[in-house]
Amino acid sequence: MHYNGSPYRTIWPDPQNPRQISIIDQRALPFTFLVETISTSAEMISAIRDMHVRGAGLIGAAAGFGIYLAALEAPDEAFDDYMQEAARRFDASRPTARNLMWAVERVLMAMAAAPDAAGKRDIAFRTACAIADEDALFCASIGRHGMEIIAAISRKKKGAPVNILTHCNAGWLAFVDHGSATAPIYAARDAGIPLHVWVDETRPWNQGARLTAWELEQEKIANTLICDNTGGHLMQLGMVDMVIVGADRVTRSGDVVNKIGTYLKALAARDNNIPFYVALPSSTFDWRLDNGGEIPIEQRKEEEITTLTGIDGEGVLRTVKLAGENTRAANYSFDVTPARLVTMLITERGLVKAERSAIRRLFPEVGGDAAQGSRTTHENP
Ligand code: MRU
Repeated sequence: MHYNGSPYRTIWPDPQNPRQISIIDQRALPFTFLVETISTSAEMISAIRDMHVRGAGLIGAAAGFGIYLAALEAPDEAFDDYMQEAARRFDASRPTARNLMWAVERVLMAMAAAPDAAGKRDIAFRTACAIADEDALFCASIGRHGMEIIAAISRKKKGAPVNILTHCNAGWLAFVDHGSATAPIYAARDAGIPLHVWVDETRPWNQGARLTAWELEQEKIANTLICDNTGGHLMQLGMVDMVIVGADRVTRSGDVVNKIGTYLKALAARDNNIPFYVALPSSTFDWRLDNGGEIPIEQRKEEEITTLTGIDGEGVLRTVKLAGENTRAANYSFDVTPARLVTMLITERGLVKAERSAIRRLFPEVGGDAAQGSRTTHENP
């Protein structure tokens, strides 16, 4: 997608020196566009944990490159032990997002085919690049499938702008390119369909205010920022035609774990008869789980709730306190939206009901009872 008119991905290896991985430091947006270079696995773990990079697909791509960096650091004589420990640390850096563990697992499995450390390092790099390329490709495909839904609503509205509500940032910045929830929006714009996006600010980290509004502006998509409590009211007034959100993990039965507050939007949408779509690449499915309640929910630091960071009138970045000195806060980062509240899932293979047998038919190679991947960790690094 575009920043200042130039196309960018959110993560890329330096073509001259692939030991250096570039990322956009999302903590600085929307005020500064900062490209950061990562050259060790420890730096990549910090970048994931401290949210320089965030969002399901991008966390996965970052973990893929991070495992490659770990492979460069691993001593030949203790290669496998080093890699197992690195994998454990990556898995623990953000416990909810499935893409992270999926990418770590995928690179480790690919590396196992090589006979020596040099071959494993080479495969690690190629697999990390493939994960990033595939993420961009799958999101573009989600865009094409999701665009049909927007087009149908547009026809019904006889060309009046389609009002879409989204929560958090499941946009270009949360993936390698296009985004999941935003890909249909970009595709609809490209097809000339008039639309407008209601952007939930998404407390406490404000991904909506800081990132989604900014990236939609970069792409010249009409959007309006609303506070998280406003969506239900707009739905009652008939000002929302559809909701599209992303997902951090989806069970094989279609339960959706996404940014905290998503569940409330799904309830409001159901009460107002508004379709509620969840866009995700297949890398976000957790094929081992049925029940969303089994997914570990990350709890982040209290300061994300008790403080607010932004720029003052002089353009200086400042953090201010919102709550009293002794006020304690509980920062649950994600919630579970039960499958019954989801109208359809939008995947790279097409639309599918959020229901076990339908999902299994669309992904017959992985949708069975066999667990995909065996490692899982819920601990903090
Ligand atoms: O904590 P974050 O910002 O990494 O959370 C992830 C998200 O951005 C959202 O939950 C998003 O809607 C799904 S990620 C595609």
